[in-house]
Amino acid sequence: MAEPTIEDYFTEDRSFAPPEEFAETALVTDRSLYEEAAADPEAFWARQARELLSWYRDFDTVLEWDLPFARWFDGGTLNVSYNCLDRHVEAGRGDKVAFWWEGEPGDTRTVTYADLLAEVQRFANVLRSLGVQRGDRVAIYMPMIPELPVAMLACTRVGAAHSVIFGGFSPDSITDRVNDAEATVVVTADGGFRKGAASALKPNVDAALEACPSVNHVVVVRRTGEDVAMVEGRDLWYHDLMAEAAEVCEPEHMAAEDLLYLLYTSGTTAKPKGIMHTTGGYLTQVAFTHRYVFDLRPDTDVYWCAADIGWVTGHSYIVYGPLTNGASSVLYEGTPDTPGRDRLWDMVERYRVTQLYTAPTAIRMFMKWGDHEPGGHDLASLRLLGTVGEPINPEAWMWYHTHIGGGRCPIVDTWWQTETGAQMVAPLPGVVATKPGSATIPLPGVFGEVVDDEGNPVERGGGYWTLTKPWPAMLRGVWGDPERYRDTYWSRFEGRYFAGDGAKIDEDGYIWFLGRVDDVMNVSGHRISTTEVESALVDHPAVAEAAVVGATDDVTGQAIVGYVIVRGGVEATADLVDELRAHVATKIGPTARPKQVLVVPDLPKTRSGKIMRRLLRDVAEGRELGDTTTLADPGIVEQIRDAAR
Ligand code: WTA
Repeated sequence: MAEPTIEDYFTEDRSFAPPEEFAETALVTDRSLYEEAAADPEAFWARQARELLSWYRDFDTVLEWDLPFARWFDGGTLNVSYNCLDRHVEAGRGDKVAFWWEGEPGDTRTVTYADLLAEVQRFANVLRSLGVQRGDRVAIYMPMIPELPVAMLACTRVGAAHSVIFGGFSPDSITDRVNDAEATVVVTADGGFRKGAASALKPNVDAALEACPSVNHVVVVRRTGEDVAMVEGRDLWYHDLMAEAAEVCEPEHMAAEDLLYLLYTSGTTAKPKGIMHTTGGYLTQVAFTHRYVFDLRPDTDVYWCAADIGWVTGHSYIVYGPLTNGASSVLYEGTPDTPGRDRLWDMVERYRVTQLYTAPTAIRMFMKWGDHEPGGHDLASLRLLGTVGEPINPEAWMWYHTHIGGGRCPIVDTWWQTETGAQMVAPLPGVVATKPGSATIPLPGVFGEVVDDEGNPVERGGGYWTLTKPWPAMLRGVWGDPERYRDTYWSRFEGRYFAGDGAKIDEDGYIWFLGRVDDVMNVSGHRISTTEVESALVDHPAVAEAAVVGATDDVTGQAIVGYVIVRGGVEATADLVDELRAHVATKIGPTARPKQVLVVPDLPKTRSGKIMRRLLRDVAEGRELGDTTTLADPGIVEQIRDAAR
């Protein structure tokens, strides 16, 4: 058996069995799904595909696996918009609410399944009238308004693939993505509301399209009402086109392996990767995980995934999973601190939200804002909480559990990636006990192992997280670059998928994600994960958030430098800094004692909220800054530099 490759210091021994009241009525209350999937994974996924989705034609084969290329459910045909809309309306559930939408200024729209179907059919006809055909690509650059899912679903109805570009991206990022996909139509809006003001989008599209020869038309939704320049012959108003469009649009019968969408992620080179997701396998696993991980009761639940649709979390768990399962969801346009820092809690109370799914970075921000913000609201409707996007520090988990979940809600910590398409490691909440900071065990039908440098399985301790069998929602490739797909994901360990995450496995077989392996430090020959030191810092009552990097050091190879944000009301003194260094040494061990701890006002984050440790490493090593183009607020790095002087 292999030796652990990453040190395993931080032990967390709190464990929470599924709350009794929750477990009594949970959809899954025993291990049978795990057993069924382990005994015959393909039969298990075939059953889910047939039970959760409606097919025009049943599939002939479940899986064809020619490593690293998978085909799921070949021979089967289906349409995603039919699965998300028509079948619910046909079953008499047209009046059911699909989205309780709320704009940041407080305006609301209630969108039923029948409304959504009507709007999607019209917009599908609009796309066709603009020349969009099966197999084409449509770029979407929009705020979080109902027309965004409408545009996505209309693409699926006519068999075009969408490429949603997050509304925070700059013109250059739009240009790169539109050109790589050779999109023929762009759907956008004049703008959206963020932080209490209108924020324009259309000017970014105009600037981007100067260098995009493939685009014939731009469709513009009116949201903010601000003036926009319209290019004659190219730009068209959504409301004008919709008024003219025919009401009925028959869905295309798509093959299970037809392209559903592209979603770009940044890689190690400057060129973003267009991650390819296809139809039947993706929808199966997204529907399965959405139903069973969130313990969904479509008739009574009010589900809220507070992510942006521009990221994969929004694709899978705002649009495709919830709609396939016939759920009612809250959809919110704006930021969580407008008009007050209790916006989310106010909405949870008003809509009687039952499941809330958000990111650790948001949870730590809520912690920093103070207990009184959620404390002033009735959150008793909540019955389950979820997190995604980063490892969650145990203290942030406990805060979420106590202050949001009232101690009664299971927390599903869900590990997955843009590339995996759907959740992979997460508890089934009625069965699996949770431990703060662990995503627990692979879901039924998902198979993974922690391995050492040579690819040998590690039974206990830290290493690299790999997937050992294909899964239905897996990426099918990188758009236009099959070699990049093979090299990036399938070459580090023979026969295994590896996409950069470190993890440790404990004596119960629980997986603890340790962050990206490029974030592992090497201090005097000990490989220590940044996540563990960060968790130790956040464990101190004075700290709200922490980021840790390894800076080059003559003596120890790398030295640990911690950047911390203190909680409201705490004063940053030299004594506090010493106390924090000592606290880490006590929690983890003397090797992990940070050489330096800096109290900073904020941390540099990407637009999706992940800490950019690379920039902090540059600051710690006194280097010129690397690429800051994806940084949400570039001014933060200067403030951190000042703190470091
Ligand atoms: C990280 C987001 C620990 C991980 C769905 C992964 C997590 C990357 C978790 C993918 C989690 C996501 N625990 N780490 N529960 N969820 N990650 O593509 O490093 O935006 O590789 O997909 O986020 O980020 P992406």
